[in-house]
This record gives sequence, C-alpha cells and structure tokens, in this order.
Amino acid sequence: MNPHETKFGFQTIKESEKVERVGKVFNSVSSNYDLMNNLMSLGLHNVWKKILIDTSSLKPKAKILDIAAGTADLTLAFAKANKSYEILQTDINHSMLMEGQKKLINNGEIIPAITCDAEALPFPNNYFDCVTIAFGLRNMTKKEVALREVYRVLSPGGKVLILEFSHIYQPLQKIYDTLSFKIIPMLGKFFAKDELSYKYLVESIRVHPTQEELKTMMEAEAFEKVSYRNLSAGIVAIHKGYKF
Ligand SMILES: C[S@@+](CC[C@H](N)C(=O)[O-])C[C@H]1O[C@@H](n2cnc3c(N)ncnc32)[C@H](O)[C@@H]1O
Repeated sequence: MNPHETKFGFQTIKESEKVERVGKVFNSVSSNYDLMNNLMSLGLHNVWKKILIDTSSLKPKAKILDIAAGTADLTLAFAKANKSYEILQTDINHSMLMEGQKKLINNGEIIPAITCDAEALPFPNNYFDCVTIAFGLRNMTKKEVALREVYRVLSPGGKVLILEFSHIYQPLQKIYDTLSFKIIPMLGKFFAKDELSYKYLVESIRVHPTQEELKTMMEAEAFEKVSYRNLSAGIVAIHKGYKF
C-alpha cells in the first residue's frame, strides 16, 4: 500500500475516501443495525459488551467516553451498570447516534451525544477515566491517530478498553470463513436489503490487525500495561491499556 492509501474491506482506496465510504455503510445499515447485530452474533455481542463492562472496574462517578457509540448499546449498559457514571458518547455518523438516542430515551436515559471523528476529538487533555471503543476501531482511517487521541483525553491512571472483531483460533479459521463470508452477506441481503455493506463488514474484520499487532500499536502510542483477552475463541478480543 502507498502512504496515502488504506483498506476498505479488501479494496485498497485513498485515505481521503474512507470516511465517506464508511459513512455510506453506516447510513445504510443504521435502521437495521440492532436486528442484524443480534442475528449475526446470535446475541453474543451483548455478552461481549457485558464482559467489557465487568472488565472496566470503574469507581462511582467515573467519567466515561464511549467512542463510535453507534446505536448506544454499550453506553446504555454503562448507564445501567452504575447511575453515578458521567457518560458521553460520540460517533462520526449522525444516523447511528440518532438510533442510539431513541434507544436511550426509551430506556429512560438522557446521555449527551456528540457527532465527531475519533481522529480529532473535541475534548480537553487528561479528562476521562475510561474510554471505550466497541467495534469501531477497524472502521477508522488512521487507527494510530485515533489511539493517540484516546491517550490524550484520558486522565493519568485512566484506561482504554477496545472491543473489536479479531483473529479466531487458527484451527477454526476455515469454518469461520465459510460461515461468515456466505451467511452474513446473505442475512444482510435478506433482512437489510444491503448485501454489500455486510460484505464490507466481513472483509473489514479480516484486514484488521491481529491481537498482537493491535497491542503493539497501542504500546507505540504510549499506552502501558497493555493486555488483551480473547472471547469466543478470538472472534473478538478486548484490549486494555493504561495512561499513567
Ligand atoms: C459497528 S458500529 C459499532 C457501534 C457500537 N459501538 C456497537 O458496539 O454496537 C461502528 C461505528 O463506528 C463508527 N465510526 C466509524 N468511523 C469512525 C470515526 N472515524 N470516528 C468515530 N466513529 C466512527 C460508525 O459510524 C459506527 O457507528
């Protein structure tokens, strides 16, 4: 890849085009996002998000920033976990955040949402106790810039938790590939009338850094005590890192 190119699924595109291409995907899937998430993961995404919250071990009144919050599942789960948390959610995509706002209001929660790019966060240095990104990092154009921004806004002693699709235990790779490349775009076609967005989803998982590569990227941005935990045989992983 040339310096100003990046991956959009299996395609190599100009970096300057990625935000728009990813934006089109999430504009298209926003209204069916929750249904498709439940179907594709057989509801497991809720378990993975619950594990992230259990992993966070935050004190009451912790300041939490949920980046790429989308339809607000994780934001809502944090709000329910402890009423004293001060939560803020962001996403680059307005339609996704609007779906999230409906869900939060239906659950009796009012949580501020800001539409912004994770690669240029409009927040001061050293503010949040915890920053989370669930299934968002792989869609970002310059992941290292987003990680640098997360580090900047974390307060000393704060932590980042990244829940993302990752690389499955090797012996299961073939069956996982067969199932995901065939079934997920088919579900997308049938339920969301959008096969291409779900093809992108599967491809974007394959080109995302491995568990070890992401750990190294985080360490390169100055995160300390970086560790990860594989869930569901590595279908997803939670990476954790601290700013001291
Ligand atoms: C797969 S959804 C995840 C939503 C939610 N966190 C969840 O776990 O269900 C990915 C989200 O990342 C957002 N996103 C993509 N690129 C982004 C960026 N550069 N900055 C902020 N959000 C971004 C998309 O708009 C989308 O809402």
